[in-house]
Amino acid sequence: MRVLFVCLGNICRSPSAEGVFRDMAPEVETDSAGTAGWHVGKPPYGPMQAAALARDVDLSDLRARQFVVEDFERFDLIIGMDAENIANIEALRPNGNTTDVQLFTDYASDSGLSEVPDPYYTRDFDGALDLIEHCARGLRTAIAAG
Ligand code: 4NP
Repeated sequence: MRVLFVCLGNICRSPSAEGVFRDMAPEVETDSAGTAGWHVGKPPYGPMQAAALARDVDLSDLRARQFVVEDFERFDLIIGMDAENIANIEALRPNGNTTDVQLFTDYASDSGLSEVPDPYYTRDFDGALDLIEHCARGLRTAIAAG
């Protein structure tokens, strides 16, 4: 099983999702990417890394990259953090490709939320991590259930 987490910049939400989920489900292959290329090669945003490390999630080895059309072949499941991410992913889907693309919050439907709010703008890094952990637990359950 290979799962790709996608956000806009690949320095806040998707690397956090990757970091949380790889600790939770080490048997699953994970990666993350951004639909924008602004931060390619950079580690996750400092305040995001600090908030994650405070709960023992180490993001320091991750580096940003841009989502590419080949990702539809490389991954079994592509997970976006908000509706804009999903639209940007779908715009690149090759004709005939059927790779599963889902919203992360759909794995935490009891949260009542339909996106992971971007902490780069909200500055609520802990709130984002709380939601990401909740969604990650739902994803782990969904994968285990097949
Ligand atoms: P992310 O947050 O999509 O969760 O990585 C952002 C980080 C940086 C920017 C936008 C969103 N930016 O405009 O640089």
